Amino acid sequence: MINVIKDTIFKLDTKDTSYIFRVTKTGQLENLFYGKKIKELPDETALSEKNSVGMGTMVGYDQKHQTMILDNLCLEYSGIGKGDYREPFLDVTLSDGTYVTDFIFKSHKILSGKNDSLGNAASYGENIKTLEIELIDNYAGLSMFLYYTVFYASDVITRQTKLVNNSKDRVQIKRIMSMQLDLPYAGLTMLTFDGAWSRERNKIERALNSGITINDSKSGASSNRHNPLTVFKRENCTQDEGECFGVNLIYSGNHYTAAEVGMFGKTRILSGINPYCFNWDLKAGEQFLTPEGVMTFSSRGLNGMSQNMHSFIKNNIVRGNWKDKERPVLINSWEAMFFDFDEEKLLGLAKESADLGIELFVLDDGWFGRRNNDRSSLGDWVVNKKKLPEGLKGLSDKIKKLGLLFGLWVEPEMISDKSDLYALHPDWAVKIEGRTPSITRNQMQLDLTRPEIVDYLYNALEAVFEEGAVDYVKWDYNRTFSDMMSGQTDNQGEFFHRYILGLYNLLDRLTARFPNILFESCASGGNRFDLGMLCFMPQTWTSDNTDAFQRIFIQEGTGYGYPPSTMGAHVSETPNNQTFRTVSFDGRFNTASFGLLGYELDLNYSSKQDKKSAIEQIEFYKEHRRTFQFGTYYRLMDGFSGNYAGWITVSEDRSEAIAVMFTKIHYANTNSDILRLKGLDDDKMYKIEARRQAFALKPFVPIVSKAVSMVTPIKLPEDGVIAKNVLEKIVLKTEKEEYVCGGDLLNNAGIKLHQPLVGMGFDLETRILLDFESRLYLIKELE
Ligand code: GLA
Repeated sequence: MINVIKDTIFKLDTKDTSYIFRVTKTGQLENLFYGKKIKELPDETALSEKNSVGMGTMVGYDQKHQTMILDNLCLEYSGIGKGDYREPFLDVTLSDGTYVTDFIFKSHKILSGKNDSLGNAASYGENIKTLEIELIDNYAGLSMFLYYTVFYASDVITRQTKLVNNSKDRVQIKRIMSMQLDLPYAGLTMLTFDGAWSRERNKIERALNSGITINDSKSGASSNRHNPLTVFKRENCTQDEGECFGVNLIYSGNHYTAAEVGMFGKTRILSGINPYCFNWDLKAGEQFLTPEGVMTFSSRGLNGMSQNMHSFIKNNIVRGNWKDKERPVLINSWEAMFFDFDEEKLLGLAKESADLGIELFVLDDGWFGRRNNDRSSLGDWVVNKKKLPEGLKGLSDKIKKLGLLFGLWVEPEMISDKSDLYALHPDWAVKIEGRTPSITRNQMQLDLTRPEIVDYLYNALEAVFEEGAVDYVKWDYNRTFSDMMSGQTDNQGEFFHRYILGLYNLLDRLTARFPNILFESCASGGNRFDLGMLCFMPQTWTSDNTDAFQRIFIQEGTGYGYPPSTMGAHVSETPNNQTFRTVSFDGRFNTASFGLLGYELDLNYSSKQDKKSAIEQIEFYKEHRRTFQFGTYYRLMDGFSGNYAGWITVSEDRSEAIAVMFTKIHYANTNSDILRLKGLDDDKMYKIEARRQAFALKPFVPIVSKAVSMVTPIKLPEDGVIAKNVLEKIVLKTEKEEYVCGGDLLNNAGIKLHQPLVGMGFDLETRILLDFESRLYLIKELE
């Protein structure tokens, strides 16, 4: 809801929040409030800054308004050269060489729906409204439009900026932000989600003190180094209580979020395209549109903030035929076979997969050109007939006959120097003539700033997707930029942004041409997990790291801003390829089930027991898939600290929920664990039961033999016939534990779980959770 009061006060209301600003008498926009909903605003002066006396070393706006001190105002936009010395929103060099700007309110408009956007890289929604504010700087001949779109139900407001050059001269934009949020207080803690390949999105907290703190990416992609999601929490904000803000950017390139605590203890938050290496020529008559900045406020703690972001992504970012649709359980050939496969091997894997209940077969890297390792062929999107003699069509037909959907891996933005494409068009690779280009994984990037290269990719991919009757595409991106130079423009300060515009153009066209394909974006795992990619691809490969233990942190960190329905999560081999860690087959499932379940291992080598477990897992997952993928997600605790982590996902009508509880390290003889849940209906009665997992005795036969010999007259030597032929083959079920109780008990008290493993003295009731293990709990409303 957008309320305009006296033509100068703007009050944007969502379900639980209000965002209020006004026009000052000198024409600036003063932010009055962002926080928990305020019903009425009879007197806006209650919220405005009062400066009736000038202060030392402060600049007054002009002779008449010497106490209008911009440095001490909460502003919606801030420029340079009028006395506000904090981080600017805009930095433009005018044709006279000066960089002072002074934008003054001109008018406002309420638009139904949205303003223009960077193709489909934008939020959308039904019955939404956008407030457009026009500001002008007459001296510069520039207009600036600020857009505010209100997403009522998810408590999100997005912001966007458009700069229009009405002058006769070129200006240079060195920085233009999407959003600015000035808060009249300090004391915030900033949460960022940082990491690296295979270790993405760890939650990092830092208290903001006087000065500037930046969360950004300079690699050309939104990056695994620093995700664009940035959270700000106030004192006493916990997972479920207290106030916090979430900020994100609908963009896949270099992002920048800065928080500055200024001289008066006000906090400024800015977010937009990273000014790093950015310099845009805006010629006379041209306009520049930023990506959209996203902000949300929650007074329900960090879980509330995450739920707002999740609801926004599910309803207003993800689009197309797969938007709200349950996603298929997949098998991926990568960790199963890497480059070493042929049609027969693939079909063998597909057959095994179909038998287990898997629904989608994904052929990963290695199917095209001469790609038998990572040293060649990117760019040559033509099937390798040695591996697949009947082409993609032949393979796809056979896969589909097994009742599976067919999916394919591509990495379109790249080129190998050993490729036919490079032989034909060496100038298509991003590099600088005369410099030796730097290389990652033997590959370079294609110059997507050039429309003819975008066209080439569109045509090449269209042919491949058609031939393979492809149902799913894994769109990979395995390096970041070096040797940046665009063949399209002389102004290299435009390179990074033009690249992203080229990419979005390609994705706009391909997703329109293939509306039924389920796209999953990937960038060496999670190097481009962002809202921009999610506008085109409903899901993202969260990380190349499939270790069930490290995934707790990767998925929990990701979950602060992105819902489980966006996170690919696979059960893979053990010991794990990335960490050499061993986690039980069901333990691996428990982590993967809180995302979009897949398997990524060669099932031909899986034990009978693992296959049996896989059948049960897939059955269970499908039965509760809606809740796993689209339920309301809560963190039961902060999994980054302490010895436990836990999550719950609750169905919309709260008749069903699934919780998971992880033990990081098992300690002997500890207190019983308490499982306290969230989000259940206090007035409903539920049955809660632990999902019983397979527990193979084999590794513990020496212990069990000794225990039996100790407490009974039977003597069981560890290497005896019974130990070898009987005990080693026994697969037990983990503890049977179930209760019937009200939602109020589960939410407010929690259950004292069975006694944990003490050592040799265990029985079938014992809750045996070894290091890195976990348990799922199914909670169902009683009929
Ligand atoms: C990247 C991806 C993997 C796999 C390989 C194939 O590393 O993240 O999942 O697709 O490329 O080369």
